[in-house]
Amino acid sequence: MKEVKVISFKVFRYNPQADAHPYHDTFEIPVEKGITILRALDYIKQNIDPRMSYRSFCHAGICGSCAMTINGATKLACTTQVWDELKNCVEENLITIDPIKNFTSLKDLVVDMDPLVEKLEKYTGWVESTMPDKELGKTEFRISPEEFKTYDSATDCIFCASCVSDCPLMNYDKDYVSPAIILRAYRMNMDSRDSASEKRVLQIADEHGILDCRQCNRCSFVCVKKIPIVDAINHLKQEAVKQKNQGLNMLEEKKKISP
Ligand code: FES
Repeated sequence: MKEVKVISFKVFRYNPQADAHPYHDTFEIPVEKGITILRALDYIKQNIDPRMSYRSFCHAGICGSCAMTINGATKLACTTQVWDELKNCVEENLITIDPIKNFTSLKDLVVDMDPLVEKLEKYTGWVESTMPDKELGKTEFRISPEEFKTYDSATDCIFCASCVSDCPLMNYDKDYVSPAIILRAYRMNMDSRDSASEKRVLQIADEHGILDCRQCNRCSFVCVKKIPIVDAINHLKQEAVKQKNQGLNMLEEKKKISP
């Protein structure tokens, strides 16, 4: 027979249409060993409070929708075991669950992801290809294994926003480009099918950009896929500085030429 413990979950609640302020509700439920935080939330929703809101989809650490703050740390609810979390409780057998940080709660644990999605658009977060005529009509564009290795780990990003949640710069500058978008820019810039790398570097080096990063390493530390985000930041920072210097040199040359 599986071991069962009675565990309390202190969950962030907020319905902007009904509540003046956010608050926490505590639910006491029996939990078998092997149950994840997401399954525990499902239990609460199905058996105690059907109004409780949170996002989830794959239940397998793939879609990135269930990131939340569990006992103060950003994690995926579907890959975090309840019993493992007990060692991180401040109060015995009491697990606290809050939304990811640096986002606005729309309802309970569901946050507004629009600002991050808008940044994807602002910073060209996709492969932008200007295909040579001779390539048109081809159905396959092969990437060599050597090339893929340079951005293999960056493609593991599931856009769960854990890195955004823990980025201290985002605390006071919501317009900061963010680690997730920088990682995306790195992944696109390393792709040989892309032709927008210079434009992208200029975009992320602009105001609220990559040069504001103080390299605290939090993004790499909290990444649920263990992606070395800080390496991508370093790479693009060097590119940004190079491009800025080239721009300055060209300006100096122009000055010399003009009378
Ligand atoms: Fe998809 Fe957790 S539900 S990552």
